[in-house]
Amino acid sequence: MEEDTQYHPRMITREPEREGRCYFRSVYKLKIKSETKVVQQDFHLIDLLSHFVRERIPERVVHAKGSGAHGYFEVTRDISNITMAAPFSEGVGTKVPLTMRFSTVAGESGTPDTNRDPRGFAIKMRTSMGIWDWVFNNTPVFFLRDPTKFPLFIHSQKRDPQTNLRSPTIQWDYWSQNQESVYQVMILFSNRGTPRSWAQMHGWSGHTYKLVAKDGSWHYVKIKVISQQGIDNLTAEEALQLAASNPDHNTQDLRDRIAAGNFPTWHVAIQTMTPEEGQKYKYDVNDLTKVWPEDEFPLVEVGKIVLNKNPENWFAEIEQLSFSPGNMPPGAEPSNDPVLQSRLFAYSDTVRHRLGPNHLEIPINCPLAVHNFQRAGWMRVDGGAGTLPPSAPNYPSSFQPPVSFPQRPYNLSQIADPIVGPATVLSSYQLSRMDFEQPNDLYNKEFTEVERQSLVANVITALNSVTVQQVQQRSLNMFACVDTNLGNAIGKGIGLQPSSPLTCGA
Ligand code: HEM
Repeated sequence: MEEDTQYHPRMITREPEREGRCYFRSVYKLKIKSETKVVQQDFHLIDLLSHFVRERIPERVVHAKGSGAHGYFEVTRDISNITMAAPFSEGVGTKVPLTMRFSTVAGESGTPDTNRDPRGFAIKMRTSMGIWDWVFNNTPVFFLRDPTKFPLFIHSQKRDPQTNLRSPTIQWDYWSQNQESVYQVMILFSNRGTPRSWAQMHGWSGHTYKLVAKDGSWHYVKIKVISQQGIDNLTAEEALQLAASNPDHNTQDLRDRIAAGNFPTWHVAIQTMTPEEGQKYKYDVNDLTKVWPEDEFPLVEVGKIVLNKNPENWFAEIEQLSFSPGNMPPGAEPSNDPVLQSRLFAYSDTVRHRLGPNHLEIPINCPLAVHNFQRAGWMRVDGGAGTLPPSAPNYPSSFQPPVSFPQRPYNLSQIADPIVGPATVLSSYQLSRMDFEQPNDLYNKEFTEVERQSLVANVITALNSVTVQQVQQRSLNMFACVDTNLGNAIGKGIGLQPSSPLTCGA
């Protein structure tokens, strides 16, 4: 190259596969002599700069830091008696392509992977009947069951609007005033709050969903995605050390595993309840703060997930990836869980802001085969008719080329929950003593001794940085409501005693 000659990279990099879709200006040399003044006619300089200064899009309002990979889901058991949803309806051995994204919740997009936080565990399956998004976490329950609390809860975990600092005092003020969160808080402050690797954690639907068979019979269902790499967690010290030495530890771990051919694998299992069992269940079947014990509602293995391909273009395949719990094929339906019902709205809504109204046309989000009646709007780049000819009408025409609508074999009123009983009516958002039963089981029966010790130590460290004593006291009382020994052990570490008498819900 001549000394005073520069090539504009976009002009010399032609992408043959895009020929015909975008019209590139012809390739030529742009000469900038040292004595030449930059003027408006240096169109390519201005083009380059103006694209550069627009390279960022809004990050996710939650779950901003994360990464992912591609692979497949394979059906391993025939459950067509339970659901008509693809891929299950297509027989054992059916495989569908998928993309998964793992994330932390509260931190911004540059924050360390190893921060103490739940992990997002989102799976996009591209089935023959459309996209099926499983937007799960690595915990079986969530902090709340009243969706109006979600934005307020997230505010308490993110930065204080005055100082722009995260604050343990504010975090514990929220949790201790909303003690239905205690099960999730206990998982978070055990070493399960800092997984060593995304491949070494399970994923859970949390919510109850419904699976519906062709004849309209239906079951409540919860889904668990079980790591075949085993579970491994970091200690608080290891997590802190990695946050400093390699903030992208989990991102790199996933990439390295796949690059080395050690493809992370999960088994998929479901728990089911008939509508009648749901009505009789001790807890509200739509309460997101409760688990269905596996000894009462056994896991049935139905599928397998393998991740075997790293993204080649991270922005296109991961940052532009978007999920919605509302993306479900016929045969899968939401339950009445109010948090799930709220999520059916919130995800597509946020994504219209983050990626635009045509986010489903972005290749990574696009279903395998689509026709729709949406033709216009920002960044409509595919001509708009999906697999129909570009001239196809944007309404269901009676005389233009055929658009046929597959019929759902069941009637939606057939699968409505009966409007009686605890299965559908959240009897109260108020805290009750029952809210401490499962946390007690978690502490005494499920946690190992190491997990119990890590929980106590990590809570003591966190509560010692809370600056308001009434928040410390209320938080301590919350743990004492779970278990007397747990309360006493934490109290010892923060120099307080559980209140007497204790009030543990109505
Ligand atoms: C009312 C309750 C909730 C609301 C309003 C809500 C809202 C959101 C929003 C706005 C995003 C960002 C989406 C995007 O920009 O693409 C998000 C991401 C996410 N949420 Fe929720 N969320 C709720 C509860 C939950 C629950 C209960 C779970 C798990 C069981 C969950 C799992 C996730 C995951 C995994 C992501 C990351 C998706 C990705 O990787 O792109 N969320 N949530």
